[in-house]
Amino acid sequence: MLLTTKIAGVAPLLLAAASSVYAATTTGQSTLQVNVNDTASIKTAAKTVAKNLISYYSGDKPGQTIGILPGPPPAGPYYWWEAGAMWGTIIDYWHYTGDDTYNTLAKQALVFQADPPQNSFMSPNWTASLGNDDQGFWGLSAMLAAEVNLPLAPGEADWLEMAQAVFNTQAADDRHDDECGGGLRWQIFHSNAGYDYKNTIANACFFNLGARLARYTDNSTYSKWAEKTYNWIRDVGYIDKNWNIYDGGHVPHNCTDINKVQWSANAAIMIHGVAIMYNMTEDAEKWGKPLTGLVNRTLEFFFPKGVMVERACELSDRLLCNVDQHSFKGYLLRSLATAALMAPDLVREPIIKTFKTNIEGVIDSCLADGTCGYRWNVGKYDGDVDNGPAGQGMSALAAFSTYLITEEQAVFKPLVTNSTGGESRGNPNAGEKPATLLSMSELTGKDKAGAGVLTAFVVCSILGTYFFLVTGVGERK
Ligand SMILES: *[C@@H]1O[C@H](CO)[C@@H](O)[C@H](O)[C@H]1NC(C)=O
Ligand SMILES: *[C@@H]1O[C@H](CO)[C@@H](O)[C@H](O)[C@H]1NC(C)=O
Ligand SMILES: *[C@@H]1O[C@H](CO)[C@@H](O)[C@H](O)[C@H]1NC(C)=O
Ligand SMILES: *[C@@H]1O[C@H](CO)[C@@H](O)[C@H](O)[C@H]1NC(C)=O
Ligand SMILES: *[C@@H]1O[C@H](CO)[C@@H](O)[C@H](O)[C@H]1NC(C)=O
Ligand SMILES: *[C@@H]1O[C@H](CO)[C@@H](O)[C@H](O)[C@H]1NC(C)=O
Ligand SMILES: *[C@@H]1O[C@H](CO)[C@@H](O)[C@H](O)[C@H]1NC(C)=O
Repeated sequence: MLLTTKIAGVAPLLLAAASSVYAATTTGQSTLQVNVNDTASIKTAAKTVAKNLISYYSGDKPGQTIGILPGPPPAGPYYWWEAGAMWGTIIDYWHYTGDDTYNTLAKQALVFQADPPQNSFMSPNWTASLGNDDQGFWGLSAMLAAEVNLPLAPGEADWLEMAQAVFNTQAADDRHDDECGGGLRWQIFHSNAGYDYKNTIANACFFNLGARLARYTDNSTYSKWAEKTYNWIRDVGYIDKNWNIYDGGHVPHNCTDINKVQWSANAAIMIHGVAIMYNMTEDAEKWGKPLTGLVNRTLEFFFPKGVMVERACELSDRLLCNVDQHSFKGYLLRSLATAALMAPDLVREPIIKTFKTNIEGVIDSCLADGTCGYRWNVGKYDGDVDNGPAGQGMSALAAFSTYLITEEQAVFKPLVTNSTGGESRGNPNAGEKPATLLSMSELTGKDKAGAGVLTAFVVCSILGTYFFLVTGVGERK
């Protein structure tokens, strides 16, 4: 995933589809009706949005690839990682609403893209754009499947094993070096542009996965890695003393050229991991303080008037958010919901308060058929279908699903561990010999000849946009 950077010109790919949808709205399509005080009404809204979201998935149709959204560019707008995040959104939808309509699709997708027998989500198909964060997002969805006991047939695969396989490949020596004092690089392969970038999201995914594996297995190897990774992210300056979370820095600058753009996806994955560490350790100083600090700052920064705004790209006069970024809001809402459940005494109250103001904006942004816009602070559907619409759907679905935590009496099945009913048994050595660490020269053999060139082109065009974005951020001051 190119969190900061995959801003390639993919919008035109969707324009044909987009224009027809836009025409429909401009002729006055009806809006989604929701009563926020009625659980059944929220669930119905979530169901409508989920159905709409799944309509963009065709991986289960003959001739299509199981598990992925149309793409990656130029074949379609979505990079591989985004489907991984979508299945996590779908699993959370089930967890909060109880509707298992899409569980079979989610299960098939994760099992297939884990790429057995390795199960480390490193199919050679995606090598050309596989970053630690891309692999990480799929791993986090597999971890969630373990935590909610997503049913699997015996012998089929094992959610915990998939998460461990991702963790083990990322903890392996070949992913680590002493540049910038530690940390993972953004890209896995030397030949991919962005290999010299050590960013927050790659390390946040590894941290988050380590924290959750530690909680699930009670194995301190994972929590040691998690703590070490968190400390590195903080010490290198990607989290500042006011709890802002920045994007990353480059190895040739010893990671001191910090790109100060703030994405909600970075905050999401960090907050979730910190909440788990706090829940597990009950250490108020080491984890409680960062949790309240990060949640405070995140609510203040991303919900300026109670409704979420992706400030780095959702400017008041222009929308610069790319396909990836359209899905970010959903990750933050899902993470905040988990934090509220994992650390109720510390952060539940401000999160519930924010969810209540935010949902009004989300509702206003949706049409009756479950199509939702990207801007939640304009009081209506914004007609934004460029650079989506699956990301918009993921964000809105997360908003409705997680809103259910606002009910005082709501009870959700607790996230399990190995000792509290978790059925995944895992394999501590999973993924240790990744067969798929192909070099780009090996890749460029057969039918993949164009892949490297294509990635290089996409990344270049993106880096251009990325500097533009940083300028955009500066303008807000
Ligand atoms: C929902 O409940 C709150 C608090 O009781 C109330 O202020 C609000 O008007 C209600 N909204 C609707 C749509 O009924
Ligand atoms: C990889 O690509 C091939 C060829 O398109 C396809 O048959 C296969 O299912 C893909 N595997 C994964 C894990 O996406
Ligand atoms: C590079 O950064 C690391 C981590 O911030 C620091 O420990 C190290 O001293 C720095 N090296 C140089 C040469 O500045
Ligand atoms: C978070 O905000 C609350 C309420 O404004 C405040 O009491 C608390 O000290 C803040 N915590 C941190 C760590 O900034
Ligand atoms: C940890 O999470 C559980 C819910 O899973 C919650 O009941 C408990 O209060 C949490 N612990 C702390 C210290 O907040
Ligand atoms: C997980 O739980 C099972 C069943 O209680 C137990 O046999 C196993 O040893 C546990 N695994 C770990 C890693 O603790
Ligand atoms: C704990 O995890 C590490 C890392 O995967 C593994 O090497 C070790 O065997 C695990 N310990 C137990 C008791 O499962």
